[in-house]
Amino acid sequence: MNADKRCFTLGSFSSDVVFYDSESPLNIPNASLVVCDVNTEHIVEACGGAAEAPRIVLAPGEAEKSLPVLESILSTAVKGGLSRGDTILGVGGGVITDLVGFAASVYMRGCRLVLAPTSLLAMVDAAFGGKTGVNFAGYKNMVGTFYPAAEVHVAPSVLSSLPEVEFRSGLGETIKNALLGDEGLVELLERERDAIEARNPEILGEVIRRGLLVKCRIVEQDLTETGIRAHLNLGHTFAHALESVAGFGVWTHGEAVAWGTVKAAKLGELLGVTPASYRKRVEQLFAGYGFRLQAEAPHERLIEAMWHDKKLKDGRLYFVLQSGVGQTQLVPVEPETLREVLQD
Ligand SMILES: NC(=O)c1ccc[n+]([C@@H]2O[C@H](COP(=O)([O-])OP(=O)(O)OC[C@H]3O[C@@H](n4cnc5c(N)ncnc54)[C@H](O)[C@@H]3O)[C@@H](O)[C@H]2O)c1
Repeated sequence: MNADKRCFTLGSFSSDVVFYDSESPLNIPNASLVVCDVNTEHIVEACGGAAEAPRIVLAPGEAEKSLPVLESILSTAVKGGLSRGDTILGVGGGVITDLVGFAASVYMRGCRLVLAPTSLLAMVDAAFGGKTGVNFAGYKNMVGTFYPAAEVHVAPSVLSSLPEVEFRSGLGETIKNALLGDEGLVELLERERDAIEARNPEILGEVIRRGLLVKCRIVEQDLTETGIRAHLNLGHTFAHALESVAGFGVWTHGEAVAWGTVKAAKLGELLGVTPASYRKRVEQLFAGYGFRLQAEAPHERLIEAMWHDKKLKDGRLYFVLQSGVGQTQLVPVEPETLREVLQD
């Protein structure tokens, strides 16, 4: 294994991030229980010692992020006699990392958690920062904990089997992360579009490493989301509204975030926060990667959905807006302003 090991301190917690070079397969010894899904099981098979450990293979998809599936993982851990010092390893996309993180956080009040994210979205986002959870009572991520993994293993080579639609979804979040704090990464994304879309291993590895560092740096300052962590929601108020109004699966999350981030730039321009030149840069970046910038969704329903979004504070709706790369702020916005932005 050729891996570069770093340690990020997240509040009072810390996660070791093991970043592999572009060709190296995962190699994770000492797991006592491995959880993956049918699409990521082949990665476990090639994963050193973890391939020999007892394994739970779930169906793929968001429906598995549920209390019954959580309970089945905990039951297997009890039957296998896992102790608090034993390791539960999650190998998969964000569904697996959220679910397995939750299971490890509550098993014996917290056993050792190791994650190996296998989707681009999980590599730059879901596996870092300690948010775990399952969907409950019809609400996404309604029940969960904050429990950063002891180790996160990031091997870009595992992305070779990731379906294109999932890759593009992760790209939307990656571009958003870059805008939040890495001018060099934004330039790399602008310059190397063809290589990134072709999944050139060296360049993609660099994009992932820098993308996850942006998230880690933000979370380091605010593990439990009382302040600056809200910046990670850039584009998300628009995105969540679009996903709920358009209906599940019409837009992937990353596509919706791309659309939402462009809308946030337009909103910022209208409010005098975002310079026109930066708004154009954001638009061109997402458009260059082929993200849809127009959405056929009734504006009033979008606005209504935004008002139900959790970023409503003191009866006011706050948006994450930017004046440049890494220059981010929360700004209260009135419904009339949103109407104007959506008409554009
Ligand atoms: N905890 C957080 O901070 C956080 C942040 C963002 C998203 N999330 C959560 O992440 C989830 C979405 O994550 P996702 O987009 O990775 O979806 P996902 O986990 O459903 O993975 C997408 C699909 O790709 C497949 N897949 C993953 N890796 C693969 C690989 N290497 N080869 C082949 N197939 C592969 C999966 O089986 C699945 O079918 C949501 O539940 C969301 O709430 C959590």
